[in-house]
Amino acid sequence: MPNMMTSPTGANSHNAPGIMIAARDLFKSFGPLEVLRGVSLTLRKGDVTAVIGPSGSGKSTLLRCLNHLEVIDRGTLEIEGEALTAAGPDGTARYVPDAEVRRICRKMGMVFQSFNLFPHMTVLQNIIEAPMTVKGLARDAVVPKAEELLRKVGLLAKRDSFPARLSGGQKQRVAIARALAMEPDIMLFDEPTSALDPELTGEVLRTMRQLAEEHMTMLVVTHEMGFAREVANHVVFMDEGRILEEGSPEEVFGTPAHARTREFLAHML
Ligand SMILES: Nc1ncnc2c1ncn2[C@@H]1O[C@H](COP(=O)(O)OP(=O)(O)O)[C@@H](O)[C@H]1O
Ligand SMILES: [Mg+2]
Repeated sequence: MPNMMTSPTGANSHNAPGIMIAARDLFKSFGPLEVLRGVSLTLRKGDVTAVIGPSGSGKSTLLRCLNHLEVIDRGTLEIEGEALTAAGPDGTARYVPDAEVRRICRKMGMVFQSFNLFPHMTVLQNIIEAPMTVKGLARDAVVPKAEELLRKVGLLAKRDSFPARLSGGQKQRVAIARALAMEPDIMLFDEPTSALDPELTGEVLRTMRQLAEEHMTMLVVTHEMGFAREVANHVVFMDEGRILEEGSPEEVFGTPAHARTREFLAHML
């Protein structure tokens, strides 16, 4: 009888179908500060994973490493089965050529806490800019799509407004539409509601919930425990550069295994 437990590639085959993000044993330091200390994370198609944890635990750095806004020191990263990095002989991460990195990272859209809209462009221009300049699409081709996205986030009426005239919640919904305009397979959100007045978080969370219901694969760093609990199917608790525990929302919120998790949740809820 062959032993089903052993295979030359190990238990975690990186090329399994439906695996959108496979991060293995990521390490990242800023000078002497080790910020990621062996983080492994898998996202499958349609997963909505919430990353929670104290400030400074490395959540933003993890997201930024996934889409190459930061480079990892060690570990491997695969997006939809394509390697962004391979381990060199000394174990340090080596990236595939730049053009490949850019192509692969385009599969991921990102939404930041601070919106990062282009202030000198209208809402519509913000959305069509990347599809035109990065993908080389014609304006006529991208405008109807942009309008459809604006309708989806409830902001078609703001098409020709400048960001300064929008509320924070509206800006963030434009930022979501802008990311979606690149037709990503995965959406990364870094505390998308943390800069918002409390009365404006709901409209952004509703937009995100709608995306989740459409089966977008999402990785969401959030302090919104209600959202993590209700919308995510997987919750990851990070502490001091490591994933201390992860599981279903029921597991992590209901029966947290670690004292650190319990302590964090007691402060958040
Ligand atoms: N570019 C950087 N240079 C130096 N230190 C950084 C940089 N980015 C983040 N850090 C540090 O890394 C640690 C983790 O930061 P971060 O990933 O932003 O945590 P979180 O998002 O969980 O609050 C913090 O101590 C932060 O000050
Ligand atoms: Mg952060």
